[in-house]
Amino acid sequence: MKVLLLGSNGRLGAALSRRWKSLPQISELIPLTRNEVDLSDPLSAEAALAAYAFGTGDVVVNSAASTDVDGCERDPELARRINAETPGRIARLCAARGARLIHVGTDYVFDGLLDRPYTEEDEAKPVSQYGATKLEGDLEVLAASPLHCVVRVSWVFGPDKPSFVDAIVRRALTNPEAAAVHDKTSSPAYTEDLALWLESFLDLALPGGVYHLCNSGTCSWRDYGEYALECAKQHGIPVLTTTVAPLKLSDMNAFVAVRPPHSALDTSKFTRATGIVPRHWKEAVREYFASWQA
Ligand SMILES: NC(=O)c1ccc[n+]([C@@H]2O[C@H](COP(=O)([O-])OP(=O)(O)OC[C@H]3O[C@@H](n4cnc5c(N)ncnc54)[C@H](OP(=O)(O)O)[C@@H]3O)[C@@H](O)[C@H]2O)c1
Repeated sequence: MKVLLLGSNGRLGAALSRRWKSLPQISELIPLTRNEVDLSDPLSAEAALAAYAFGTGDVVVNSAASTDVDGCERDPELARRINAETPGRIARLCAARGARLIHVGTDYVFDGLLDRPYTEEDEAKPVSQYGATKLEGDLEVLAASPLHCVVRVSWVFGPDKPSFVDAIVRRALTNPEAAAVHDKTSSPAYTEDLALWLESFLDLALPGGVYHLCNSGTCSWRDYGEYALECAKQHGIPVLTTTVAPLKLSDMNAFVAVRPPHSALDTSKFTRATGIVPRHWKEAVREYFASWQA
């Protein structure tokens, strides 16, 4: 099986590229960046991808997206092209060639008002341009072929590109004050785990459709940050604090886009389909800080 990977230098894409290089079921892994396929130009992105030889039994992974939530709010037309229109074109190209598209989605398609983790059957009601354009992309992909998969992830962290946990620990190396939002919750997702679990979708016998995928357990940004600081300290990283003061989501005046307050994902459909039970986010964060580099 040949695998073409869009977004291969992103946080998740880089982990997939590193871990999937040696998978026995992949005969050739083709990592693609915006230099080869620029999603902001739908027609040329489709033509650029079409120039690669792939067909029945091959897989295209789309881990590329416009992920700057406030940037999408400022330029929704660009966000729409990258997150919706081009994925739709790519999905139809893959369908015409008999290839599966694994398209990475987001918890931000939900409004975050539910008091339990979201299942794939819950109605998506985005509250931002990022969420709306990603949802449009999900629907375009699903409409193109029953073989295609939309895998929605949340709060992605990992070694290939800094995220919230890296920022809070790095700041605590020089600043004894830490603060994070306490009334916004979701589920962290470790890229090393996602890369392993996403292998399941290379098995074309796994039915297409929407799947939610992240580590188990739910936390606030404050819980997540505090646990990251504790793990960092346990692993000898000289942080000046392990206490995180609570901030309110409504006080985050620098945010341009509205964020969903509670967007944890329920992964039981993935577990039913694969038998894999995602480990708890705390176990993943602990492992991450065991080999963390400032
Ligand atoms: N990060 C999160 O917490 C989070 C949460 C939920 C869902 N997700 C979803 O997970 C997926 C992967 O996200 P990530 O965390 O790996 O984000 P990321 O690090 O921002 O990676 C996104 C990738 O998309 C590429 N990209 C952006 N615009 C492009 C364009 N016009 N043409 C081609 N490539 C372009 C970026 O390329 P450059 O490096 O060249 O900019 C980058 O490699 C996305 O679908 C995202 O919506 C992420």
